[in-house]
Amino acid sequence: MVNYKDLGLVNTREMFKRAVAGGYAIPAFNFNTMEQMQAIVMAAVETKSPVIMQVSKGARNYANASILRYMAEGAVAYAKELGCAHPEIVLHLDHGDSFELCKDCIDMGFSSVMIDGSHLPYEENVALAKKVVDYAHQFDVTVEAELGVLAGVEDEVSAAESHYTKPEEVIDFATRTGCDSLAISIGTSHGAHKFTPEQCTLVNGVLVPPPLAFDILAEIEKKLPGFPIVLHGSSSVPMDEVNTINQFGGHLEAAIGIPEEQLRKAAKSAVCKINIDSDSRLAMTAAIRKHLAEHPGDFDPRQYLKPARENMKKMYIHKIVNVLGSDGKLAQ
Ligand code: 13P
Repeated sequence: MVNYKDLGLVNTREMFKRAVAGGYAIPAFNFNTMEQMQAIVMAAVETKSPVIMQVSKGARNYANASILRYMAEGAVAYAKELGCAHPEIVLHLDHGDSFELCKDCIDMGFSSVMIDGSHLPYEENVALAKKVVDYAHQFDVTVEAELGVLAGVEDEVSAAESHYTKPEEVIDFATRTGCDSLAISIGTSHGAHKFTPEQCTLVNGVLVPPPLAFDILAEIEKKLPGFPIVLHGSSSVPMDEVNTINQFGGHLEAAIGIPEEQLRKAAKSAVCKINIDSDSRLAMTAAIRKHLAEHPGDFDPRQYLKPARENMKKMYIHKIVNVLGSDGKLAQ
């Protein structure tokens, strides 16, 4: 049993309180590789932002749970080395699908876990989330739960259709589970293909997706004033990265994300955690494809992973400063 505090990590409680009060959101970036981890830490240190580094079940399968845990510990040391005396880094389990997985993460030093029972019947979702909260809170680990279903595919999580969160359920759910934050469904979805072209409107040659359901968000905020709300599936799928991928041999058709103005608006509300994974994948792939196409003789991974890391760092900084507004928000 390792407690996250001994690794220099923090839970989400204080940072969420400040984010809700301050009208900004904390970035939650997924990571699977060392280069992603380095880019996240460099971006957070440069912008003086708290950050959530999150690991999915798929990431644990890919990179090994112990390695990811030590990488998070390394992230704290690296942030200090880069000049940040008091980094605020959360190691979070993204989409935990069982009590056992959440417990395993808590026992190995995660400071926050998500239990995603959103696909279960309501009462089963409540019971599972409560079981995880009861265990996690003994160690001051914070818990995110979810109500409503997001469409899309992400690692091992997938759903064909989305179901918006029902505002009439949120008070009962938050009270009975004791969860620290609530992920809701208001029109975002996982992956780089969030909408079909038919669902979008063509404005000046650009496909504009339908707006998020801000009316549902407002109702939820009214029912749970000041309660931390989480948005999954919040990549914007930047067209310049998609175009670079396609220009250099890729084939990504009809990739459409959430417009950044929508996320900016959400970040100003009780939404205090915004999950971004696909944009990092796109930034990495675009840089690698471009580098290898322009330098066909290169075969040292450092030659193409360095520009990939730079491109991800640029994207993370952009999100922190121009979309979420968490720059300069470290407690000290
Ligand atoms: P994106 O696929 O939009 O990046 O969403 C990631 C996410 O929500 C992780 O839980």
